[in-house]
Amino acid sequence: MSKSEMIQTDIGSVLTAEEIAEIDAELAHVPYKSGAAIDALKIVQANRGWVSDQCLQGIARHLDMSAEELEGVATFYNLIYRRPVGEKVILFCDSVSCWINGCDDIKDKISQTLGIDYGETTSDNSYTLLPVPCLGACDRAPVMMVGDDLVTHIDHEMVQQLFASAEQGSAE
Ligand code: FES
Repeated sequence: MSKSEMIQTDIGSVLTAEEIAEIDAELAHVPYKSGAAIDALKIVQANRGWVSDQCLQGIARHLDMSAEELEGVATFYNLIYRRPVGEKVILFCDSVSCWINGCDDIKDKISQTLGIDYGETTSDNSYTLLPVPCLGACDRAPVMMVGDDLVTHIDHEMVQQLFASAEQGSAE
């Protein structure tokens, strides 16, 4: 068995054929394999919800990178999740405009309503709460993403409406 076949077999045990095909499609658009690092991480995360150590190592091998190099990319890009997350991730902006407009108070309301703090997931696995830097909607602060939805001008009533039915308590 050639070296490339061995690598392919090893990757195949971690990543699906579809994931490998999607990553290879991205490779066609970049001059260096490592240029597809973020897209490859996103592809795996889109399929699995997060990027495990095994998947990270498989991606790194496929891109001729070390696991440490790819870990650096994943860590720098804060929308790559290296631990399991809930069905929806709440990306809560805590940057300046949102802070001036009372995001600390809103964050407390979310934590109280869902029973979770930053980095935690509700016990029913519905939501994970994470802080993020500016979401680019400062004129509509306070702002958060709930899954794919941008929620602006957040107030207590909105929090109550959005999360009232969620089960309280952390799964951590
Ligand atoms: S500071 Fe919160 S969206 Fe910009």
